[in-house]
Formats: sequence, C-alpha cells, structure tokens
Amino acid sequence: MLAACRGPQSTFDPAGTESAEVLHLFWWMLGGAVLIWLFVMGLSVYATKAHPKAHSERTGTKLILWGGVAFPVVVLTALLVFGLQMMPGFRAPADGPRIAVSGERFWWRVHYEAPDTPGVAKFLSGKGVPSANELWIPVGKRTEILLSSPDVIHSFWVPNIAGKVDTIPGRITRIVLDPTRTGTFHGICAEFCGDAHAQMRFVVKVVSEADFAARVEAERAPAAVLDHPGRTAFEANGCGACHQVRGTGSVGLVGPDLTHLASRETLGAGILPMSVDNIQRFIALTEHEKPGVQMPSFATLPQAETRSMAEWLETLK
Ligand code: CUA
Repeated sequence: MLAACRGPQSTFDPAGTESAEVLHLFWWMLGGAVLIWLFVMGLSVYATKAHPKAHSERTGTKLILWGGVAFPVVVLTALLVFGLQMMPGFRAPADGPRIAVSGERFWWRVHYEAPDTPGVAKFLSGKGVPSANELWIPVGKRTEILLSSPDVIHSFWVPNIAGKVDTIPGRITRIVLDPTRTGTFHGICAEFCGDAHAQMRFVVKVVSEADFAARVEAERAPAAVLDHPGRTAFEANGCGACHQVRGTGSVGLVGPDLTHLASRETLGAGILPMSVDNIQRFIALTEHEKPGVQMPSFATLPQAETRSMAEWLETLK
C-alpha cells in the first residue's frame, strides 16, 4: 500500500507548489473522513449493542436534523471554502516560458517558445521549437503549458508537480507548472483516449534556468546528420512522410519530430528506454509494442535494414 507514496509519478511526493497544495487538501479531507467514519461506527455500535431498544421519535428526528442536515452543511461548506481559497494561487500568471503541448494518438507533441494562442494549425506550420514526449522546464519558474488536441480528448498530468487538465479538440486549455526542485518526473495521459491510452506517457525534466535555455537551443538546431545506410533506408521506406528530421528531406508532421530523438530518455512516448535495440524493436513491432498506434509495423523489412535505420536514428542526439 505504501509503494506508491514516493517516486517520480506520485502525488504524495510533491515537487511543485500546486501538487503540494492538493496534497494538503487531501490530508485534511482524509483526516475529516476518518473522524466522521469513527463517529458513525461508534453510533451504530451504540444503537445495536449499548442501547439496542427503540428510541423515541423525538430523538430520531433530532438525530436526522443535526447529524443528517446541519452537520453535512457545515462540513461541506467549510471544505468548499478551504478548496476555493486555493484557486487564486493556481491561477496566478506565469513568469516562465510558454510551451505548447498537443495530445496526439498516442504521444505528446511539444513546442517550446509557443506563440500566444497556438491552434493545431500553428503547431503544424512548424512555429516554435518542436520536440516530443519529453518536456524540459526550469525550476522556480511558473511555466505556462498551452494544451490542445487535433482529434480526441486527453488529459495532461504530472502528478508530482500539478493537477491535471484535459486537452480538448478545438480549444486551448492552460496549466501552470511551478516546480520547486530539480529532478526527473513522469507524466501520463489521465483520460481514456483509445487503445494505447495507458502507454501515453512522457518524461518531465526539471532543470536550472541555464540548462533549460541550453536544452531549447539544442532542440532548435537541425540534426547533425551522418551519411549512413540507415538514413538511405529511412528515406527509401517513406518514414519522412510522417516524421521530421530537420536538416534532411524528411519533413512529415504527422508523427513525433525525430531531429534529436536519441537525446531523449525514452522511446514510443515513455514506454521503452532509448537504445538501438529498442528503436529497432519499435520500428519492426510497432503495433505489438503499442496496440492502437497510428504507425504501422515494418515487420516485413529485412532485419539488417531496420537495424541500420535504428543505428542511424541513434546518432540523432
Ligand atoms: Cu491520451 Cu489517454
């Protein structure tokens, strides 16, 4: 039971101001619930064991009015006020970078230096600095995340840092991430969105402001592309129709940007550690690794070819 109380994906291990407040509210609610439960259990023991005979109608009416009407009204009103007074803090304006994140089936499109109101069309026109499935944010700054989706509803959730907000087609929703310490955390889609919903994860790296700036510069740079048989295979098999490798002829915007694929910790939206073996596995057995994914498996390609593609992709740091 206690295994989930710590770690990179736990609301009980807050690393952000909002998650700390939510946890504070949770402990008050839990404490109150335990007290009320003990009181109700005590009453039922009293009524069945200590004083099993029938009570007068007057006593019964009194119990219902005080215990069933007055008490819940007071307790729930107090909880409502306690919860509402937290909200202005969550709504405070951001003072950090603005990053656009789009929930895709089933991965996360990331654009650093997002324009103010990026619709999906603006994501696709290549504005900002594109990346995917890994979100770097500076510690001690309130980073504004603008959320959208091209087709179905997802929910963006980094349990250690903040609450969750849905990504809704045709709308821009916002959440502010205000991390209080550096570290690597895990995010997850928290709204059922299709077959691979549970495999729609991402990595959140909370770093110093200088490291954040350096990361965005590194993401902005085109790929350091080698002449490699894997690149020839990647291009010959049409991978560039869906994937972008900036600095080459591959300019597809349907799937994740692969320009700096190998600099990320994970593959396939958080499901596999980054390695040549896993890249090859993901290309050949895509639908096996991630049921419901939009990318077809390339299981019919010779192994030497998928290996060579994986080796080339692994150079895209
Ligand atoms: Cu995306 Cu669930």
